[in-house]
Amino acid sequence: MTDRTHLTTVEEVRESGSWLFTARDQYGEQEEIILVPCEDADDAEDSDSPGVEAWVNRCTHEAQKLDRGFGTAMRDGQIICPKHGSMFDSCSGYCDNGEAADTTLVSVDVGVEAGAVYLTDEGYEFDHEGSVEDGSDDADGDGESEDDDDDVPSSTSHIGF
Ligand code: FES
Repeated sequence: MTDRTHLTTVEEVRESGSWLFTARDQYGEQEEIILVPCEDADDAEDSDSPGVEAWVNRCTHEAQKLDRGFGTAMRDGQIICPKHGSMFDSCSGYCDNGEAADTTLVSVDVGVEAGAVYLTDEGYEFDHEGSVEDGSDDADGDGESEDDDDDVPSSTSHIGF
């Protein structure tokens, strides 16, 4: 059985619309990956396509992030590229329109078991949730950003006007 890393839940991906994380490829380079709901009813019954798919967070037309840090724009089961508007099927990754027509997003293997989503792709190792930049304040390397509100005065203080 392949190694796998627990990422999140199908419910979370569906509720948020997408889920961004950063992994390291076989060369140790960081790569952003998006999880998106795949609502295709036929596919949903297929165990290979359990309701969530994962794609490298980069348009096939230019090196444009599909999720720029505040969620992936989606409509009718299609991922919308924020730069030129090409739309990719969230289940197949295929694009049949606009600048990116006739291309397919780079796929990443994930698995779902009991509603939990796991990274199963041997080409990637989970690094942290969020974008590459989100990992830069992960001082203790636990994959979570450190809380910065315990000793540094916050600019949003309790003082009223
Ligand atoms: S960069 Fe995505 S369609 Fe052009």
